[in-house]
This record gives sequence, structure tokens and C-alpha cells, in this order.
Amino acid sequence: MNFIELTDHELVNIEKIDEQHSQYVKIVNKLYDQLGAKFDSETKRLFTELKNVLREHFDTEEELMKEYKYVNYFSHKLEHDRFYNFVDAYSKDISDGKTKLDLEFLKSNKRWFFNHFEFNDKKCGEFLTTQGVS
Ligand SMILES: [Fe+2]
Ligand SMILES: [Fe+2]
Repeated sequence: MNFIELTDHELVNIEKIDEQHSQYVKIVNKLYDQLGAKFDSETKRLFTELKNVLREHFDTEEELMKEYKYVNYFSHKLEHDRFYNFVDAYSKDISDGKTKLDLEFLKSNKRWFFNHFEFNDKKCGEFLTTQGVS
């Protein structure tokens, strides 16, 4: 059983967004499998991948929101920015040896994802779908 399991409930039916959510979840699940292991190049690689996938994904959603003049653009983007900064800071602490990969960090990811999905991505996805985005 994976640390995070996605179901059809977590689909917005916009191909690129759904694909990016699934990529993000895959990386968090891989990090979960690394828990307790020594910090090595694989952990480092996964963190780089995590940040890249998040950046690309947030940019995708933000560009679509801007293009279709979505009313909640700013509050949605603010949540992205805060979360990205959190992951970025944690990732730096890990590389500097100030902290170790722990379950709390992964739990924060899980909580954030489902919460953000429910209150932001879902509504945003519904809006974009009415605009013909698929
Ligand atoms: Fe989002
Ligand atoms: Fe998203």
C-alpha cells in the first residue's frame, strides 16, 4: 500500500494537471520508501525531482488561471507559493545536514495535497473545464 493513494475523486479531468498530481504523489511515495535510509544521492535526486515537479505543476495551474481570468487566482497562487517555499527550505536543510527526512514532512505533504486539492484545485478544475480546458 502506498503512503498516498489517489482515487478518481482526485481527478480534475484536465490531462496535464491530473498527470502532474500523479507524478507528485509518486515522488512523495518514493520518499516514503526512503524513510530511515541513509541520506544519499537517491534522496537528493528525489528532492530535486519533487521541487521540479511542484514548480512545473504550479506554473501550469497558474498560467491557466491567468489565461482564463480565474477569480481566485491570487489566493490559490499564495497557497502554492507558501508550500513551495516550505518544501524548498526543508530540502535545503536536508542537504545541509540540519535535518533528516522524517515522516512529519511527508505527512505535511499528504495533508497539504488533499486539503489544497479539495479547496482549491477542484474548484479551479471545474471552472477551467467549463472554459473548455481538458
Ligand atoms: Fe493548485
Ligand atoms: Fe494542483
